[in-house]
Amino acid sequence: MKKEGTNLLIPGTPALRALRSSKEAFSADPKAYYIETWGCQMNEEDSEKLAGMLEQMGYRPVGHPQKAQCIIFNTCCVRENAELKVYGNLGRLKKLKEEHPQTIIAVCGCMMQQKGVGEAILKRYPYVDIVFGTHHAERFPEYLHRALQSGEQIFEVHEDDGTLSEGVPILRESGLKAYVTIMYGCDNYCSYCVVPYVRGREKSRTSEAILAEIRALVEEGYVEFTLLGQNVNSYGKGLEPYVSFAELLRKVNEVPGVSRIRFMTNHPKDIDEEVIKAMVDCEHITEQIHLPVQSGSSRILARMNRSYTREQYLSLIGRVRSLIPNVAISTDIIVGFPGESEADFQETLSLCEEVGFDAAYTFLYSKRNHTPADRMADQVPEDVKHERFNRLVEVVNRSAAERNAAYLHRVEDILVEGPSKNRPDTLTGRTRSGKTVNFPGDQSLTGTLQPVRITKTNSFSLFGERIEVPAKEA
Ligand code: 5AD
Ligand code: SF4
Repeated sequence: MKKEGTNLLIPGTPALRALRSSKEAFSADPKAYYIETWGCQMNEEDSEKLAGMLEQMGYRPVGHPQKAQCIIFNTCCVRENAELKVYGNLGRLKKLKEEHPQTIIAVCGCMMQQKGVGEAILKRYPYVDIVFGTHHAERFPEYLHRALQSGEQIFEVHEDDGTLSEGVPILRESGLKAYVTIMYGCDNYCSYCVVPYVRGREKSRTSEAILAEIRALVEEGYVEFTLLGQNVNSYGKGLEPYVSFAELLRKVNEVPGVSRIRFMTNHPKDIDEEVIKAMVDCEHITEQIHLPVQSGSSRILARMNRSYTREQYLSLIGRVRSLIPNVAISTDIIVGFPGESEADFQETLSLCEEVGFDAAYTFLYSKRNHTPADRMADQVPEDVKHERFNRLVEVVNRSAAERNAAYLHRVEDILVEGPSKNRPDTLTGRTRSGKTVNFPGDQSLTGTLQPVRITKTNSFSLFGERIEVPAKEA
């Protein structure tokens, strides 16, 4: 089932076609590229597009920046940690550029959309050749061409102009599981979050474009699709004719060859009954949902501008569980939001106990420039944040272990993704609910569905044995 080689979708954009004759970008010598990506799945997908464009220009991937003629850093600014890593890595490129002055270094992504950041990078790291933002990244071949021709620094950071570009080639490597972006941007303005400022307003792709991409991927052998957006539940806003997210899910479910559908991220205020109904009705939509709660305290949720209360969130969880009994629920939680008291934090702990999440992504609150929370007076001291964080991790690990333990002795259909990284005699794959399962088996099973009996579990994964299914009689 797994196909060899790359999966370049949809032949080039006008910029790419114009570049086909460019000597610099398309020299006879094979050139190599290296992309480092920080941040969320949206950034990963953007990097797949950059890789797709580079491959069309004749570049090939390499595993180390030292060997590349084009290095791209695709940055994230959701938390400060991610930014610090970018600066550290940029500093290390100085020596590389001295040794290989022809190498083009480009920095892109969300950090560049922040006021003054791209300009400062060009100044502080004069060996950086190109800075570009999240809007019009599809014009990267043109930026590269100009950098190669002029030898000057290129700065291409644009404000959101409301346009969406289709037809950019995407290089996907899995051959089995694909992320498909269905919408861009976010209009929610949670008070701690920079995403609305750096990713712009919500814009939905047409259902035709999404379905065409999925059909083409099925042809390539892909069977699992994760529909991506900062808030997939508001998919469809502004589309003519309007298609709701629930309708889109039902359409994807009908595409022949699609075996598993996942989607993220959801906003608890926007997920509606129609989406839950679609999850119940559609056989290929998996029993898994990511519902970021952020805090268990209604007071803090209001300060976060999340537009739901603790009670509303708990009632949503109850509704989802009553209709989809085996559903795996994951969440995001921020610890130490400004003004969070010990009593507020206790509410987060008790909400986690009450829900029993299958997985929780926990974050220390990180001050972000220009966001309302950054200006709030009552910031929580770092040591208090860390101490609360540790207590929270203990609770969420315990509940994940309990949820996973419930799988013991069950037989699950595992979509085999390939050999496990550390042990070549062990295969790794996922249940429909998204749990990672490791079990002994041969690589040749990659890409198939295998019945596996779960024999051991912990907080993060499951272990099992493949069940030999007797061959059907002729
Ligand atoms: N500080 C900490 N965590 C944040 N997130 C977003 N912004 C911040 C911030 N300033 C977390 C939220 C979101 C996830 C993707 O990142 O939990 O759901
Ligand atoms: Fe950020 Fe809130 Fe939008 Fe998520 S919904 S991207 S947390 S503003």
